[in-house]
Amino acid sequence: MSLNLFSKDKFVGIDIGHKTIDVAQVERTNNGFRVTGLGYIETPPDSVQDGVVTDPHAVGAAIKQCLRNSHISASAANVAVAGSTVVVRTVKMPNMPEDALRKSIRFEAGRYVPSSVEESYIECEVLGLLDDGQMEVLIAASPKDMVESRLAAVDAAGLDVENVDVEAFAAYRSLIEADPLNNASDNAIAIIDIGAKTTDVSVVDMGAFSLTRSIPIGGDSMTDALVNYFKLSPEEAEDGKRSLDLSPLINDGPMENAPLRVIQPMVDELVREIRRSLNYFHSQQTGQGSPRAVTQIYLIGGGSLLNGLPKYLGHRLGIEVITPDPFANSRFTVGEYSTSADPRELSVAVGLAMRRSGKAAAAA
Ligand SMILES: Nc1ncnc2c1ncn2[C@@H]1O[C@H](COP(=O)(O)OP(=O)(O)OP(=O)(O)O)[C@@H](O)[C@H]1O
Ligand SMILES: [Mg+2]
Repeated sequence: MSLNLFSKDKFVGIDIGHKTIDVAQVERTNNGFRVTGLGYIETPPDSVQDGVVTDPHAVGAAIKQCLRNSHISASAANVAVAGSTVVVRTVKMPNMPEDALRKSIRFEAGRYVPSSVEESYIECEVLGLLDDGQMEVLIAASPKDMVESRLAAVDAAGLDVENVDVEAFAAYRSLIEADPLNNASDNAIAIIDIGAKTTDVSVVDMGAFSLTRSIPIGGDSMTDALVNYFKLSPEEAEDGKRSLDLSPLINDGPMENAPLRVIQPMVDELVREIRRSLNYFHSQQTGQGSPRAVTQIYLIGGGSLLNGLPKYLGHRLGIEVITPDPFANSRFTVGEYSTSADPRELSVAVGLAMRRSGKAAAAA
């Protein structure tokens, strides 16, 4: 490795979602990060399905357009995977050298991956040694078609891929790891990403990913319910949804507002599923002293922009809900760029851009 004190490290992150593609460019400074480009573009219709890019050319063209609109020039980028087929687990394994671990990890991962191990990319990272002499190992696995389709899309945009990450790892990097005031090392924190199709829940316990789960409800579930009930076009339903406010749901009174009545069952199902995930995390803690509860939820993703949703979630779950701005902490300086995106939608792309090239972190 060469050390060049005068070189500027500039990296690009591309977050390919079912609904939006977000891009960010971040430069490392002496004591933090400088954001030099940000932007987003709508994902071409039906070009991403169940996390797989089914039309890499259309997505590649959209990425290219988005980078151009955001005045980002780059030859390589970091991307990520997410969703129900991506597995992240922290497991205990006997202490062994790295090459032996690489072999055993395939057997270990076979217990968790929904598809076959042969059809998955599997990565691992040793987190540390436990008191009993065993190693704590983070395993990340992703279906090959999901990874390869994303590589193909970025290739079609004319860029190389430096790293393939997990979306939740990227969000953790930009929101928590980069924040000098974070208290993640002593607590259990949840990162909840409400996207278009799914809501991805991760629990990070004292700095280690201990649970990830994908719930098949996202912002589009609510739009679809409005389309079906009121016979609206998707655009009308989307506009209508954005003008709603969930705050009245907190008082549990009789619901006068018809659109709220239509989406409430879905919101409540999402709350139930999130609670189940957090309870599962809690139940896993028994036998190791007093169980830790999740103390904070970092709520991100476009679906979290529904007015009143963060407050409603906090009320129903009895947990503090933070709607984080990745640039709010002192380690970030924000350069020249313009975007109308809400920062909550960009934390994955920013976290991807923060990742150093070639750094051996857990990746799919
Ligand atoms: N202001 C808003 N109010 C309510 N919902 C919004 C708002 N802005 C965006 N959304 C919703 O957010 C969802 C898209 O979120 P996001 O862009 O994070 O998804 P994605 O990352 O493309 O999807 P996925 O994570 O499922 O791949 C859509 O369902 C959209 O309706
Ligand atoms: Mg997303």
